[in-house]
Amino acid sequence: MNTFIIFFTFLFPLLHTSTTAQPCPITRCAQNQVPIRFPFYQQATKHPQNCGYPGFNLSCKTQSTTYLSLPYSGDFYIRDINYLDQLITLYDPNNCLPNRLLTFNISGTPFVIPFHENYTFLTCPSEVIKSRFDIIECMSNSTHSVLATSSMRLVSSLVSSYSCRVVVAALPVPVSWPVKEDEEFTAELGGDIQLTWYVPQCGDCEAQGGICGFKSNNSDEIDCFRRLPESSQTGNGLRVFGIICLSIAVPALACATGIALFACCFSSRNHAGESPMQRNNRPAAVLPQPAVVVTGLDESTIESYEKLVLGESRRIPGPNDSTCPICLSEYLSKDTIRCIPECKHCFHAECIDEWLRMNSTCPVCRKSPTAEGATPHTNPV
Ligand SMILES: *[C@@H]1O[C@H](CO)[C@@H](O)[C@H](O)[C@H]1NC(C)=O
Ligand SMILES: *[C@@H]1O[C@H](CO)[C@@H](O)[C@H](O)[C@H]1NC(C)=O
Ligand SMILES: *[C@@H]1O[C@H](CO)[C@@H](O)[C@H](O)[C@H]1NC(C)=O
Ligand SMILES: *[C@@H]1O[C@H](CO)[C@@H](O)[C@H](O)[C@H]1NC(C)=O
Ligand SMILES: *[C@@H]1O[C@H](CO)[C@@H](O)[C@H](O)[C@H]1NC(C)=O
Repeated sequence: MNTFIIFFTFLFPLLHTSTTAQPCPITRCAQNQVPIRFPFYQQATKHPQNCGYPGFNLSCKTQSTTYLSLPYSGDFYIRDINYLDQLITLYDPNNCLPNRLLTFNISGTPFVIPFHENYTFLTCPSEVIKSRFDIIECMSNSTHSVLATSSMRLVSSLVSSYSCRVVVAALPVPVSWPVKEDEEFTAELGGDIQLTWYVPQCGDCEAQGGICGFKSNNSDEIDCFRRLPESSQTGNGLRVFGIICLSIAVPALACATGIALFACCFSSRNHAGESPMQRNNRPAAVLPQPAVVVTGLDESTIESYEKLVLGESRRIPGPNDSTCPICLSEYLSKDTIRCIPECKHCFHAECIDEWLRMNSTCPVCRKSPTAEGATPHTNPV
């Protein structure tokens, strides 16, 4: 019941997105893999064809690793999909990305390269080059070393002074951020590739906590739907679940509030003669607590809990997984999270702040973070 209340306390403010729940389930190839949802869809298996946009089909390699198949460049594994910023991060299954870049071609896909840098690939005699420059180990052998640079000056000095030979000149390579101009720089190019897409445009919907989908089966039009938590999704049961939840929860909450208000008026009339002290000592059992009196922490106490901004790795300290237990959405890099010092459980700062204003316990473990110095206060609703 408690999880139910958490769920609805935080779901209702999001309802303005749409009253209809997302039409397609969110799937994953494995627990630690990226969530697959609109505009992406899982080829053949779990997602029907109309759950995704053309060109956004993904598959699972041996039931565990998510991959994307590019028509002219083969398969890439997926490190991450940022649905908000519309970025997909790919890596090479054989851990030799530079080799794949030589034949990289995204024609026929909905993706574009957001940043590129022109790299020249050279092959040089290993004995003269190895200790001086960063070489691409996975393309080099004992006699020939391969390296890549975006500096034309370095290319000409490598060719003239080190007997290097140009393999490919000025190949546009997708990079995460632009390299400084004419930096004397050779690279292993070991990082991931980042691609973006412009159609369909779902950033605004995502920013509201919604999820995009087709308006109907035979429509190309996109609509913004209310996102359901992944844990509640079991294929076809999805819509039914949403409907049942809403139809039970709304009357239940209304009912609870009604009873609570009645109980409240009734008891305050009955105990009007008692001193405030006596009233406070009465057991609170009569009052369904969440509906009538919320006992939260004050702003300064909440503010004193550690807050941090997630980096690219989105690594979170302590006993936490990759989704916020309150809003159930995936943490993204640059999200601000806050952790409760006593139990080390972390949440989106905006989610937990809202919660702690109304409740003084951790929503996950129910431990009270009210240590010394933290004074709970009560707000009548
Ligand atoms: C996506 O669909 C195309 C065309 O049906 C197919 O060639 C490609 O292999 C699919 N991609 C994946 C990752 O399954
Ligand atoms: C990518 O492949 C397509 C089809 O083979 C070809 O027309 C296009 O020129 C290629 N683009 C690059 C940058 O090689
Ligand atoms: C890479 O080369 C292309 C064609 O020569 C050029 O248009 C583009 O501006 C270059 N990009 C960078 C980042 O230097
Ligand atoms: C090293 O690689 C080059 C091509 O890059 C090839 O010609 C040469 O035979 C290779 N040498 C050995 C010892 O494998
Ligand atoms: C849409 O298509 C799916 C399968 O293709 C079907 O199960 C569903 O009933 C259809 N929905 C509507 C509203 O036609």
